[in-house]
Amino acid sequence: MNDSDLQTVFIDLQQRSYHIAIRGSLFDNPLSYAELPAASSVLIVTNTTVGPLYAERLQAALQGKYPNIHTVTLPDGEEFKTWQTLNLIFDALLMHGCDRKAILFALGGGVVGDMTGFAAASYMRGVPFVQVPTTLLAQVDSSVGGKTGINHPLGKNMIGAFHQPLKVVCDLDTLKTLPQRELSAGLGEVIKYGPIADLEFLVWLEAHIEQLMARNPAALAHVVRRSCEIKAWVVAQDERETGLRAILNFGHTFGHAIEVGLGYGEWLHGEAVGCGMVLAAHLSQRLGLVDATFVQRLTTLIQQAGLPVKAPLLSRSDNAGRYLELMRVDKKAEGGEIRFVVVNALASASLRTAPDALVREVIDLCCT
Ligand code: NAD
Ligand code: GLY
Repeated sequence: MNDSDLQTVFIDLQQRSYHIAIRGSLFDNPLSYAELPAASSVLIVTNTTVGPLYAERLQAALQGKYPNIHTVTLPDGEEFKTWQTLNLIFDALLMHGCDRKAILFALGGGVVGDMTGFAAASYMRGVPFVQVPTTLLAQVDSSVGGKTGINHPLGKNMIGAFHQPLKVVCDLDTLKTLPQRELSAGLGEVIKYGPIADLEFLVWLEAHIEQLMARNPAALAHVVRRSCEIKAWVVAQDERETGLRAILNFGHTFGHAIEVGLGYGEWLHGEAVGCGMVLAAHLSQRLGLVDATFVQRLTTLIQQAGLPVKAPLLSRSDNAGRYLELMRVDKKAEGGEIRFVVVNALASASLRTAPDALVREVIDLCCT
């Protein structure tokens, strides 16, 4: 393996530390897994779209190191991020006699990654797992940091656990088969790192958005690395989101309301986050933290990334009221009070409450 262009990002979490490896030709190379511990068996968790593309090659790469490699293939889609689907993983683990020395491999996007991680966190009270993310969104965000879980009909990602992977293997070549809409969704999570933490990165994204949309390999490698570095910096300081980590949820309070309000899978998670950042930017402006130019700049970038910037109507009778009702079911809410991630012009973010009237104004302005 030519290691010259291999990039690694270290997640510094004491005994739970691990590396993210970033490059092409990684996921099907046995060397990518050389430092992992021995295991009695392996369960590859994938879905009906990613499995046929990549599962055999991952299995072949693991064959020399691990005995008893099995695969479970889940239905594909956000609407399947449920208890029922999670049970398919437990069924497979038990059916194949997997014990505490088993390792799970998540091969797929954020949905597969979140569910595999949650299964690993709870099977026999915890077994190790490895993330092999195959979407841009999963490579820049969901595979890193140990948040795992499933959705509830009343709230997004409401049931889950913190469980860090042993390693994250980001193979940039897998992005070649990603549909364009999914690439855009991933860019939604990439863009958030600019306004919350790195003004220079925001400027870089503005200058390279066309190259990213055209999947320029060097541009993609840069955004995966920089996004992982920023996420690593945040997670190392606040693994369990007692404070700082909430900034990674910029745009998510509005975004989760859109996902739940429309029904899971109608808008992609990254689309809802992209649009949610537009609303959160307007709220930041109304709170006096950024000016109209900043809001317009961010809106333009989100639009250039192929993401929606107009929010959907969730109710014909009281649309803003419906948004508020949905946003009260949010992990950041305290005592029924919604707490929004807002940004300032220096690219730093904080958590703030806002009067309902102000939030209603923003929703009315941004809804189609
Ligand atoms: P996803 O997992 O649904 O994947 C998107 C689509 O792309 C799916 O249809 C999938 O089958 C397909 N796909 C995946 N890789 C492919 C490839 N290489 N080629 C072709 N098709 C491919 O969605 P996502 O955007 O990856 O992840 C969204 C999920 O991640 C949401 O459930 C969200 O809540 C979660 N998330 C979690 C965290 C976290 O910290 N744990 C962070 C952000 C998002
Ligand atoms: N994606 C939000 C987080 O990892 O905290």
